[in-house]
Amino acid sequence: MLFRFLILIGICAVTGAASAQTVGLDLAKANNCMSCHRVDRKVVGPGFMAIAERFAGNGEAAEYLAHSIRDGSRRKWGPVPMPRQSHVSPEDAITIAEWILSLHESDAQVE
Ligand code: HEC
Repeated sequence: MLFRFLILIGICAVTGAASAQTVGLDLAKANNCMSCHRVDRKVVGPGFMAIAERFAGNGEAAEYLAHSIRDGSRRKWGPVPMPRQSHVSPEDAITIAEWILSLHESDAQVE
């Protein structure tokens, strides 16, 4: 009985994590981020995994990155600035930022 219960919890944990991944990626696609970004490599902007790596362990990173997303960013990664993405709601910006940060050392889905 207990064993079955534990299996059930395991399944819920796995599908829960998978849907958080999908929500982040879907939001990034829906908000046109993927025209300049990829998860695993630099295109116009830095790869999201590289961003996750730079901010790993920084407890304020989600808020900071959500700010960068909505207000744009310059001179932090290279000469090309990121235009402000003010069409992204503050809530969605946080969700995307948390998703980007979750890509650090995870087996995150690419593309
Ligand atoms: C027109 C191209 C373009 C689009 C569209 C774009 N980005 Fe960027 N992004 C960039 C560039 C270029 C940089 C590096 C800017 C710099 O050097 O500071 C960047 C940097 C970032 C950073 C790091 C900011 C920091 O403070 O270190 C994040 C996070 C990010 N982008 C997320 C997003 C998200 C989420 C979206 C969609 C809502 C998006 N970007 C849309 C080009 C783009």
